[in-house]
Amino acid sequence: MHMHKYEKIWLIFGVGALVFFLSTIGVSAFYLGNKPASCLTTINPTKVDQTKPFNSPGLHKVEGKDWDYELVFVAQTFSYNPAQVKVPLGAKVRVIATTKDVVHGFEVAGTNINMMLEPGYVSEYTTTFDKAGEYLVVCNEYCGAGHHLMSAKIEVVK
Ligand code: CUA
Repeated sequence: MHMHKYEKIWLIFGVGALVFFLSTIGVSAFYLGNKPASCLTTINPTKVDQTKPFNSPGLHKVEGKDWDYELVFVAQTFSYNPAQVKVPLGAKVRVIATTKDVVHGFEVAGTNINMMLEPGYVSEYTTTFDKAGEYLVVCNEYCGAGHHLMSAKIEVVK
């Protein structure tokens, strides 16, 4: 028996929608990989101190990049290195962070910086600090007994 014309159209439409749906999921899963999109660079978590740029935490002026400064943070239970850092007002900054042990958060209160730091991955975020003042970096992933004590300070100065 031949399929009715409309059945055929609906079948094609249905399969097409399914393929579209699955590929949308597939593509987003591929890009996001169940991690923040910035978490694509890997690192040996036991060699963080010897691995660039984490061998030198803090603020560094860079040339020839889309940003003016790189602000490098290393997290470990229950602190960030650097614990305090000054950033020039209006500078375009690439925040680059990783963790030496367990999962930590990296949220900068009052900004849109909110990253998850996972062992073995490098998290990056580009931002411009366009308001002077003190910004508190807090850990928003539970990481143990000292979780609530884990913080750092970014001072945006003129
Ligand atoms: Cu580190 Cu919570």
